[in-house]
Amino acid sequence: MCGIVGVLGNNQVAPLLVEALKRLEYRGYDSAGIATVNDGALDRRRAIGKLVNLSDLLVHEPLAGRAGIGHTRWATHGAATVANAHPHRAGSVAVVHNGIIENFRELRAELTGAGYHFESETDTEVVALLLRHELAQGKSPRDAAETVLPRLHGAFALCFLFEGEDDLLICARKGSPLAIGHGDGEMFVGSDAIALAPMTDRITYLEEGDWAVVTRAGAEIFDVANRRANRAVQRIQVDATRIEKGGYKHFMAKEIAEQPVVLADALKHYVENSGGAHPTLRLPEGVDFTGVDRLTLVACGTASYACHVAKYWFEQLAGLPCDIDIASEFRYREPPLSDRSWALFVSQSGETADTLAALRYAKDKVAKVLSVVNVPTSSIARESDLALPILAGIEVGVASTKAFTCQLAVLALLALKAAQDRGRLTPAELAAHLAQFRLLPGLMNHALGLAGDIEKLSEQLAEAQDVLFLGRGPMFPLALEGALKLKEISYIHAEGYASGELKHGPIALIDARVPVIVLAPRDHLFEKTVSNMQEVMARHGKVLLMSDAAGVAEAGMGCWKTLTLPQVPDLFAPILYAIPAQLLAYHTAIAKGTDVDQPRNLAKSVTVE
Ligand code: F6R
Repeated sequence: MCGIVGVLGNNQVAPLLVEALKRLEYRGYDSAGIATVNDGALDRRRAIGKLVNLSDLLVHEPLAGRAGIGHTRWATHGAATVANAHPHRAGSVAVVHNGIIENFRELRAELTGAGYHFESETDTEVVALLLRHELAQGKSPRDAAETVLPRLHGAFALCFLFEGEDDLLICARKGSPLAIGHGDGEMFVGSDAIALAPMTDRITYLEEGDWAVVTRAGAEIFDVANRRANRAVQRIQVDATRIEKGGYKHFMAKEIAEQPVVLADALKHYVENSGGAHPTLRLPEGVDFTGVDRLTLVACGTASYACHVAKYWFEQLAGLPCDIDIASEFRYREPPLSDRSWALFVSQSGETADTLAALRYAKDKVAKVLSVVNVPTSSIARESDLALPILAGIEVGVASTKAFTCQLAVLALLALKAAQDRGRLTPAELAAHLAQFRLLPGLMNHALGLAGDIEKLSEQLAEAQDVLFLGRGPMFPLALEGALKLKEISYIHAEGYASGELKHGPIALIDARVPVIVLAPRDHLFEKTVSNMQEVMARHGKVLLMSDAAGVAEAGMGCWKTLTLPQVPDLFAPILYAIPAQLLAYHTAIAKGTDVDQPRNLAKSVTVE
């Protein structure tokens, strides 16, 4: 987490740094700060809370200079205080850092022993003090960086700015992403290309272990063995980096509303309509499940719930044995993996530290590593054998919405491909599924039409202290996702359970104050779920039933509330039912007055483990 930026500009850089930080704020918003070199003098400004506080500070205490670095923080070591805010300065060097320096305790002890004094509780300050120490031995900034970088363990992206050097930035990447931007006589460094998009569309991505000496004339890049490295300059599509609310009050509202359109785009990309004949799949050539003996799906958070839904699809449609795991457990569990199996990693950002580590663990053990990502230039995409984009467009709201449904869409298409490759679907059956899939964006539009009803009932939901979500089959992971969405933006305690699991414990929580949200399309599991729902109602639980017209007609009586969704083929129900679950979380959060797009303690891209 944390976002870092560096600019060697032709004009004053403070406004550029703040603009870039605005685009990185999704990485954390506990504090922000910038440092510049002006007439050789190094100075900095830092403020706790959101970036707007730093902007206000800069109005009263501007910072001049044509070279600078900036940071937006998600606190790891030390609370959100000004002292812990970046840039960290030691003598003539300032440092911004994303990631964790794992050996900071040893380094801190060593530096304290050598008489250095620490001003913060952060792991980052050791880097600034180590550099200061090397500079004090008479080393140049470049030599000092070359000495210090190999001493740092952990995962990090770093950028250094030196007093007296207004044409120099030194940056390094190990574990956390870092991009260098090329301008006309200007150079930039940033955690991602989106941050640099207003300034340049020419980007070089540093590779694992790279470090670089950046001047206005260009970047000298060195690999992990300190050899000069040539890294390509790529042109990014600046259009794809536009961040606008488009008239909506929140990014989350916009991203929920966009789902029919982006999902239709994803379908257009992956489904071929060969001139009126049966639609067929258009997946990269390497996606052939013939001979694959097992699939392991790994991700974090919402993306892991997408994997959980997909497990039902791969097993039921394709008969392909499937394991799912959350990346933080998978990476240290040392699971045995067959060399005839595939591993599939799902990530919106493509930078989630645990998912990336899990991918690296699997890489030389399985026959193929696939990823399903929203950012095609991300580390996870680049390190996979095959990366499938979900084409959701930039997702800014911290709570994932459109990325989730697009992940599900791509996973559903992969499951259909697996079924075809394994002889479980005829071309005609596949075409029938794809034709139904095409109708899904229209059904999603209908589901969005429930927003008014959901807004009304959310006012009551906002008064709850605890909420349970229940679902069966592929709706079970949807229950988990509904609960996650609600808790992360409304701060109401919510849990998702498999309906059948209710009486094995959670039923003890039921009373008249606990709303229970039941996600139950009228499918072959409906009766079972309704029985579980009755058990809740018998204990005075307040049930909100989400089903289709047939389901609501059959089981809606006695419920606290019902929401009627369009009828949808079983396969696509989890995608459709995600929408009311998202709207419920959104409107409840609004009713509670929380910060919907930037909920407390969270960050969009989790680049530390
Ligand atoms: C929840 C949410 C998170 C992410 C998780 C993985 O709304 O967004 O749970 O899904 O942090 O992030 P990615 O998909 O970027 O790997």
